[in-house]
Amino acid sequence: MTNKLNPSTRILMGPGPSDVHPRVLKAMATPLLGHLDPQFIQIMDQVMEMLRQLFQTENQLTFAVSATGSAGMETCFVNLLEPGDEAMVCVNGVFGNRMCDIVERCGAKLIRIDADWGSHVDPDQVKQALCNCSPKLVSIVHAETSTGVLQPLKDISKIVHDTSALFLVDTVTSLAGTDVRVDDWEIDAIYSGTQKCISAPPGLSPVSFNPKAIEIMDQRKTRVQSWYLDLSLVKNYWAGAKRAYHHTAPISMVYALHEALSLIFEEGLEKRFKRHRHNHELLRDGLEEMGFEFVVAPEYRLPMLNAVRIPEGVDDIIVRRKLLDEYNIEIGAGLGNFAGKVWRIGLMGHSCDQNHVNMLLAALRQIIN
Ligand SMILES: Cc1ncc(COP(=O)(O)O)c(C=O)c1O
Repeated sequence: MTNKLNPSTRILMGPGPSDVHPRVLKAMATPLLGHLDPQFIQIMDQVMEMLRQLFQTENQLTFAVSATGSAGMETCFVNLLEPGDEAMVCVNGVFGNRMCDIVERCGAKLIRIDADWGSHVDPDQVKQALCNCSPKLVSIVHAETSTGVLQPLKDISKIVHDTSALFLVDTVTSLAGTDVRVDDWEIDAIYSGTQKCISAPPGLSPVSFNPKAIEIMDQRKTRVQSWYLDLSLVKNYWAGAKRAYHHTAPISMVYALHEALSLIFEEGLEKRFKRHRHNHELLRDGLEEMGFEFVVAPEYRLPMLNAVRIPEGVDDIIVRRKLLDEYNIEIGAGLGNFAGKVWRIGLMGHSCDQNHVNMLLAALRQIIN
């Protein structure tokens, strides 16, 4: 028996993955190189340089972990924390919760700061909490994909750096869709994912660490619990002088990321951020005209992830199924506390397109009215 691979061509307007530009798909069909071929190493170097530009950093240790965003998250925590350390995690949605889980698995003591789902974390809350403890790091999610909140980072970074703690930030959903300034905002460690605003398939997690974070890792007294994510080993493959084998890099994914990053810089960061904001406003106007309410206050709304309350009398599952079956459009369901109550509409990277917005609004009008 043979099973043909023939999925429908969807319009991806959920929380990720986003649509991928045909040039990225074509890059993935490029013949493979060996993972230590000098030509592949040159491609890795170019990816690292483009990631530095995207993160707006001079950090040498900037590369892509060979797995999805959660592996980037785990890489940061397992390398920076040792058993018995204290870590403060700001939680206002699913991904802050995931950080807490990882902190505890590292054997570290978790200090949690909770904000309401749909709200940002108030810098004063962090300041107050830091009066009573001295954690090794403070972590926060820049773009909470489960709620649609854009978290301002500058003030909290300053508060964290008034102590000796490191500042660790999740930019899985924000990177390449809105400004992320690693050096200006003094972010010590950061991770992202390829399948959102970068618009490559899921499978790699860009990360960056500044010299202060590297110093902390170099001073470890215990071995990193994870062999695969241990940066003292991985960095000799991506960034070491000798480029020694660690694991077999996912070559085609690195090609995809290279092409996606090239597309980002052909467009230009400012223009790309503006496109995300513009299409978000177009979608917002259309949805509000239909009576939808946004979960998040305007000044804290993500442009690339629009969380709206499902109106009374509208069936969550039936409408999303119709969008998929009859219009080939995917939007996201609510997660956790928001399941069944909220839709999450993504406008990420290549999916952030005026035609997509118009198509979705037209489809929703037909289905709901
Ligand atoms: C904010 C945030 N952090 C982390 C992750 C985990 O990334 P992945 O699903 O690629 O492992 C996601 C995924 O949606 C996310 O949105």
